[in-house]
Amino acid sequence: MRRPAIAVIVGIVLLAAILLFLRTSQSKPVVRQPVAFPHRTHLANEIECVFCHSGVEVSESAGLPSVTQCMVCHQSTKTEDPEIQKLAAFANRGEDVPWVRIYEFERSAAVRFSHKRHLKAGVECSLCHGNLAEAVETRREIHWTMGKCIDCHRSRQASIDCLVCHK
Ligand code: HEC
Ligand code: HEC
Ligand code: HEC
Ligand code: HEC
Ligand code: HEC
Repeated sequence: MRRPAIAVIVGIVLLAAILLFLRTSQSKPVVRQPVAFPHRTHLANEIECVFCHSGVEVSESAGLPSVTQCMVCHQSTKTEDPEIQKLAAFANRGEDVPWVRIYEFERSAAVRFSHKRHLKAGVECSLCHGNLAEAVETRREIHWTMGKCIDCHRSRQASIDCLVCHK
């Protein structure tokens, strides 16, 4: 009777380890994008965030770049690279790349967020999105919960009125 008991315990421990691994790996899920876009390469070439995310300074959403913007350089840069060939195929079909979104609130939470306001207040992109200068693939570095937003609003004396952040 001893052996099966040990096998059961080993089984439970293994299952717990697997569940723990799944939970921690889910907190930073790797997203498979239609084109493997590396922030690192582009930031090392001193391309500014705002060149590709042109909304950040002027509106609520940062926005994602159109395929036409990518082709400004990739019409001639690295055209032999298989990822650039995928990119060019989208451009030739006149389609934008269907990027998988990484930071997005559930619609049900009806959250209001404004990039423009935070940039004006001097909050750095990296505080909210991590250090993309090192990123080969974009992952969600920080899960923005209500508590984290409110912590900073308290310390910076910004409003914590429900209707400031909720529609
Ligand atoms: C201002 C110019 C410029 C723009 C705009 C640009 N890239 Fe690049 N891209 C580069 C340079 C420079 C490299 C590196 C080339 C090299 O290594 O020789 C590069 C490399 C790449 C690579 C190859 C991977 C690697 O690590 O070398 C991919 C994939 C890529 N870019 C995708 C994109 C996508 C998608 C867009 C649009 C969202 C884009 N690029 C916009 C300049 C640009
Ligand atoms: C050459 C264009 C380019 C530059 C420069 C660039 N990005 Fe991006 N960014 C993209 C593309 C394309 C995506 C979508 C693919 C992905 O998630 O990797 C993206 C995705 C993101 C996302 C995730 C968006 C989401 O929710 O799905 C964040 C956050 C981001 N970028 C922040 C930045 C910051 C901060 C900088 C400057 C430090 C920057 N980016 C510079 C092209 C660029
Ligand atoms: C105070 C935190 C904060 C700062 C600072 C911040 N972001 Fe964001 N960003 C967010 C949140 C939260 C979202 C998700 C918004 C949503 O779903 O409505 C987001 C979404 C994005 C997206 C996805 C596309 C979009 O329009 O929503 C991009 C790209 C992005 N941010 C880029 C940037 C760049 C570039 C900077 C700096 C110039 C920056 N962010 C600064 C919190 C921040
Ligand atoms: C690092 C600090 C910091 C973080 C983190 C932060 N905020 Fe803010 N936020 C501010 C400051 C400072 C202001 C005030 C800017 C101003 O007065 O224009 C502000 C302003 C705002 C406004 C506009 C308020 C108004 O009066 O219209 C909204 C909406 C908002 N934040 C939502 C959020 C949400 C949602 C999050 C979490 C995803 C968040 N903020 C995270 C510092 C922060
Ligand atoms: C500084 C911004 C901010 C303030 C102020 C704020 N919230 Fe939130 N709230 C958020 C964010 C961001 C989320 C989404 C969190 C997530 O996705 O994990 C959220 C989520 C929620 C949810 C969960 C909704 C869902 O479907 O997931 C409720 C309920 C809620 N807030 C109620 C309130 C109430 C009531 C107040 C006022 C006492 C308040 N919030 C003030 C930012 C804020």
